[in-house]
Amino acid sequence: MRSAALPATSVVRLNIPTPPDIDAFLADAREILESGWLAGAKHVAALENELRPWTGSDHVIAVPSATSGLIAALNTLGEPGAEAIVPGYTFMATWQTVLWARMTPVVADVDERGLLDPAAVLAAATSRTRVIVPVHLSGNPAAADELTAVAQRVGARLLFDAAHALGSRHADRPVGTDGDAEVFSIGATKPLGAGEGGFITAGDAELDAALRRFTFYGGRPGNIDTSGFGMNLRVPELSAALARRCLERLEPQLVRREQIHERYASAWDGLPLRVSGPLPGQRSSFKEQMVWLHEPADRAPLVDWLTAAGIETRNYHSIAIPDLTAFEGRVDSVDRARWLADRSLAVPMHGRLTDEEVDRVIDGVASFYAAR
Ligand SMILES: Cc1ncc(COP(=O)(O)O)c(C=O)c1O
Repeated sequence: MRSAALPATSVVRLNIPTPPDIDAFLADAREILESGWLAGAKHVAALENELRPWTGSDHVIAVPSATSGLIAALNTLGEPGAEAIVPGYTFMATWQTVLWARMTPVVADVDERGLLDPAAVLAAATSRTRVIVPVHLSGNPAAADELTAVAQRVGARLLFDAAHALGSRHADRPVGTDGDAEVFSIGATKPLGAGEGGFITAGDAELDAALRRFTFYGGRPGNIDTSGFGMNLRVPELSAALARRCLERLEPQLVRREQIHERYASAWDGLPLRVSGPLPGQRSSFKEQMVWLHEPADRAPLVDWLTAAGIETRNYHSIAIPDLTAFEGRVDSVDRARWLADRSLAVPMHGRLTDEEVDRVIDGVASFYAAR
């Protein structure tokens, strides 16, 4: 029998944004409000520029969220009535945005690390496939080279959902230049944590221009005629200024997240669970730290045990996409996605976790298994 965990003195939070230099941001805010330039001006352009070295891309387009960026990219790369292939293990924005582009999401299975499996994409592709949408889930880079080869083979466009992956790296390059485009989030739960926001990296100038048109009703600012179709996806200057100040503090935060991951992975080695992470040589942004328990039945008691010890957890990705109520009646074969979903648990990961808090999380999980 397990005895109750010790009562917590304070709660170890799952995720909290790292604040920027607040005085510097307040000075920016004053300048913006006094200038009268409230949207799509100096700070948006500067943010796009400052994101180039982070992504390796020359074509960065700021948008109000990754959801809206995916809608813009899917409308631009796709075709109404066509199919887009999405992973069976991801957040709902990946497949919902396909619907907003008037396409049908086709769900393909993931590999044992929760990332879209190129072989499953090949098996799911049909003559109607127009776009393939892999996800760099939790910040772990997807198999970009293999997926590029598959996209070329089936004649589809390749759009990465990089919502989690600002700061992530493949072995030889930052995440941001693969496929036709990649879409990032800088919302509050992401490492940059600038409230809401996102951006698209486009593979070339033509796509950059087409995406920018979509963000302005399919046309151009200042021109009331339009031959296209789009939305208002302008970014407020205040948001861009906040994101720029948060960007100044991103690198130390990513280093801290990597240290925390290393500590979890080595402390839990030998326990009946797997700690998600990048392949050797890659870098993950560690937008979240997922663990996969060997035994699905352990999840509910572990959550209760950690909650009693004042440690927050979250059930991220714990329903495979075809099993969502919205997909009722679908029978996609996503065995690995289901296997992972049944065992998924997110544990605390953010740039403000103290060593003491990390110790508490480590001990909380270890003591659960020790008491079994
Ligand atoms: C995988 C994935 N894609 C897209 C999004 C949408 O991002 P945003 O909140 O910036 O719209 C999220 C949000 O968490 C996500 O997890």
